[in-house]
Amino acid sequence: MKYDFDTIIDRRSSDSVKWDVGANELPMWVADMDFPTAPEIWEALAKRLAHGVFGYADVSAQWRRAYVDWWRDRHGLTMEEENLVFCTGVIPALSSAVRKFTTPNENVLIQTPVYGTFYNCIVNNGCRAQECALRYENGEYSMDFEELERCMADPQTSLMILCNPHNPTGNIWSREDLAKVGELAKKHGVIVLSDEIHCDITAPGSGYVPFASVSETCREVSITCIAPTKTFNLAGLHTAAAYSANPVLRHKIWRAVNTDECGEPGSFAETAAVAAFTEGGPWLDEMRAYVFENRRLVADTLRAELPEVFVVPGEATYLLWIDITAMNGNSEEIAHFLREKTGLFLSDGRHFGDTGAEHLRMNVACPRALCEDGVRRLIDGLRMWKDRNLQ
Ligand SMILES: Cc1ncc(COP(=O)(O)O)c(C=O)c1O
Repeated sequence: MKYDFDTIIDRRSSDSVKWDVGANELPMWVADMDFPTAPEIWEALAKRLAHGVFGYADVSAQWRRAYVDWWRDRHGLTMEEENLVFCTGVIPALSSAVRKFTTPNENVLIQTPVYGTFYNCIVNNGCRAQECALRYENGEYSMDFEELERCMADPQTSLMILCNPHNPTGNIWSREDLAKVGELAKKHGVIVLSDEIHCDITAPGSGYVPFASVSETCREVSITCIAPTKTFNLAGLHTAAAYSANPVLRHKIWRAVNTDECGEPGSFAETAAVAAFTEGGPWLDEMRAYVFENRRLVADTLRAELPEVFVVPGEATYLLWIDITAMNGNSEEIAHFLREKTGLFLSDGRHFGDTGAEHLRMNVACPRALCEDGVRRLIDGLRMWKDRNLQ
């Protein structure tokens, strides 16, 4: 490997949300990585920093081209440069879209369990989170199209936030599934906000399907949110984009993010995105291989040592969705117990909606030694839980 993912970097003194924990605690919750970003990006940022002048900034043609080329070359999506809109994050764009496209008390459809902040984007803007549960059978998730149509057919439903690939289950949605979502959305007049922030972190050898690449209908009904921030560990730099091929939706999302004042880049936003999408490919490919080895390590160790607890098979994200149904307790109690007894800090599955109450989410974007430490604490803690509660 050309790049180093093994070195442990102390993040405790860097204002990290994730690492604001006690001395012996091991945080594997918030979705950022414990790796430094790609050296190519770091060098580009250092050069920008050395310039020393940080006045108001804007994105350039180079920024547009970097996004367009990356999605064409890696994901087979053709975007028109002029249809990209800068925004400071995917969540700011989603929140802004909810404000722009709904009136109070309308429904915004989400497929649960799903990234918990979607609830905030919806509820904090006066709408209802319309929970359309994913089907969960034999330890695997799939879309429930009957339920999806029932939800979309509600005349109060105006938006759907699609998570593609899906956080926390790790599903990569198929072209067929996405085509059906597009058809239903068109039939019932629902706009699809496709959050594709996790799209680059797929198992080596597998890709994802951009919603807007599926059909003319999918292009027409959607706004796609994309960013280099998950992929290259740049969340603190606040740099993202919204895209729509539909000129009306494109105009509205542009107005939305600008009205909400989340459409103006900071001094490092363009540099980071351009370096990531023009020079980050080799680092990304090594990082994916490393992280998917961490995924395998956790899944295999659980299978060998505590087989009643298992990792839901997923082909995307560095987030493991762990089924703890056999532990006979809810995720909140068990996450709390693990933290108290072993220092391991995982996400309580209920942050992803009530359908997450029997799961924990574990972030394995970390050096192998931390991943090994995490899985050890997980198994020891769950064994302790069993000894106390399942006799
Ligand atoms: C599905 C999903 N969307 C959006 C975000 C956050 O996006 P941003 O930092 O660009 O607001 C996350 C972070 O975990 C996420 O998992």
